[in-house]
Amino acid sequence: MWRYPRILAHRGGGTLAPENTMAGLRCGMAHGFRAVEFDVMLARDGVPVVMHDPFLGRTVPGSGNVFDYDARELARMDAGSWFGTGHAGEPVPLFADFARFCQANGVWMNIEIKPAPGYDLQTGATVARMAAQLFATELAAGELSRVPLLSSFSHAALEAAREAAPQLPRACLMSDLPPDWQHRAESLEAVAIHLRHRHLTSGQARRVKEAGYGLFCYTVNDPQRARELLVWGVDAFCTDRIDLIGPSFA
Ligand code: G3P
Ligand code: MG
Repeated sequence: MWRYPRILAHRGGGTLAPENTMAGLRCGMAHGFRAVEFDVMLARDGVPVVMHDPFLGRTVPGSGNVFDYDARELARMDAGSWFGTGHAGEPVPLFADFARFCQANGVWMNIEIKPAPGYDLQTGATVARMAAQLFATELAAGELSRVPLLSSFSHAALEAAREAAPQLPRACLMSDLPPDWQHRAESLEAVAIHLRHRHLTSGQARRVKEAGYGLFCYTVNDPQRARELLVWGVDAFCTDRIDLIGPSFA
């Protein structure tokens, strides 16, 4: 069962603002979005930051890996100039700040745990523990539709997340639906399957839904395809084109 919003802004504000930044989040909110997907990984000091690439160079000037820097160093870096001069100086957000802002503004979160290579367990456990602490009141009150959903391509990270905060819901994030998908989902006690929409067939969508899982797709930027997926029974998706596909599209 899917108890969450249907349309999410991908990486904060899709392609209308620098990805995985507060500016992106505000842009999504200005377009009416109250649900967001974003990526989280650990800095050298073990503090989680909101970032997609495990290395510098694309969204942040510089070289080396995210894991070569402490969070406070990353938070001083410019994650906005690559997108446009109007966003120069936009910092790499700390996960804690980003999540607190979402919580305070009623923005539901799909937190994608994106571990740097070799740091799956540490990343999964840290992010899950922090998210569970932040949402302790909602969890205690059983307000599960407000609690973040953790997803990851890393099975190990999700296992660690389950160990650290079993009460937080998890989703298996996969590019294609593998033959053993249900076994993987069961072993994680996952509530949803997150798939790349390009590879999804109507038959696969039916099988996932019939097995009782939520079904989420990334990243859907064509309204016609979005309609088709919803007809197939896809529960929700994230989009980069928040200008074409609004929060009440479904
Ligand atoms: O969580 C869905 C999607 O964001 C996964 O791919 O590379 O955009 O993080 P990516
Ligand atoms: Mg992502």
